Amino acid sequence: MAKVTVIGAGNVGATVADNVAKKNIAQEVVLLDIKEGLSEGKALDIWEAAPINHYYTRVKGVTNDYSATAGSDVIVITSGVPRKPGMSRDDLIGINANIVKTVTENAVKYSPNAKFIVVSNPLDAMCYCAFKAAGVDPKHVFGMAGVLDVARYKTFIAEAIGVNPTDVSALLLGGHGDTMVPLPRFTSVGGIPVSQLIDQERLAAIIARAKVGGGELVKLMGTSAWYAPGSAAAKMVEAILTNSKRIFPVCAYLQGEYGLNDLYLGVPVILGKDGIEKILEIDLNEEEKAQLNVSAAAVSSTIDAMKKLQA
Ligand code: NAI
Ligand code: 2OP
Repeated sequence: MAKVTVIGAGNVGATVADNVAKKNIAQEVVLLDIKEGLSEGKALDIWEAAPINHYYTRVKGVTNDYSATAGSDVIVITSGVPRKPGMSRDDLIGINANIVKTVTENAVKYSPNAKFIVVSNPLDAMCYCAFKAAGVDPKHVFGMAGVLDVARYKTFIAEAIGVNPTDVSALLLGGHGDTMVPLPRFTSVGGIPVSQLIDQERLAAIIARAKVGGGELVKLMGTSAWYAPGSAAAKMVEAILTNSKRIFPVCAYLQGEYGLNDLYLGVPVILGKDGIEKILEIDLNEEEKAQLNVSAAAVSSTIDAMKKLQA
């Protein structure tokens, strides 16, 4: 059975560990943080829920001890600071780029074959940062954003129609920012095109809300979300460990796909034991392409800003 490491035992990291444990798909989950006692305490708390939630995944916490993470199959990076009200994800870059670089360099030494799922923000740039720091195949380094963003979009659609959110199928492309691109042409509910169930104006309002879904929660709570983000990252861990070939929107390294190069951006992929097993290129119309290019340009400028900071 598999081993998973979650770096950062804050709100998102602990939720990822909890969700992975509940799925009973790993032998061991190691939770690592720099704050003494935090990961040990949260891991013990999750482990003590095993008899209640019926799993045998051993959850362990360590303070900055990377030797405990050795031989991990999947490493989830959640370390870094979250945003506060009024901040954009890009405002986090100075602090988080250094953290993501350091933790990736440490983790890859002990788990050179791991699949890395980056969660820290600004997500697309942090994936690029982790990829450069890890020095491994880009198919092994990718980011969680699309699974969360599309879940928000699906939830709002289900709520508007009054149906079960699981019956909504949808696709969303682009960066994890306000320029993300939900695609109504690739959205259906129980097999019915969404355009036949919701009028255009209402759908436009749902898309607008989904794009700033992260910000809506920051305004409410004073910090960013963790339940849906943690569930989304755990879903990706599950697809890898069970080799289930799920199609998810994932922040992937593009080498010519969608006409884009040397860039991390959200695109549909097949996720399995080898990480990103295939990037799916779909036919977009002119408007969708234009929106994707706007999003790609926003991500590019964040990556450029990060490169300047790290030069
Ligand atoms: P948090 O503040 O609750 O937890 C972050 C943890 O990282 C803290 O416990 C901190 O001690 C730890 N940390 C900092 N430096 C570290 C290092 N060098 N090594 C190990 N651990 C270190 O923050 P939260 O809410 O868990 O968010 C984490 C990150 O995830 C943020 O950057 C946030 O913006 C991002 N995020 C991304 C989402 C996405 O969709 N990609 C969704 C939600 C959050
Ligand atoms: C979110 O979308 C802040 O990226 C985080 O909730």
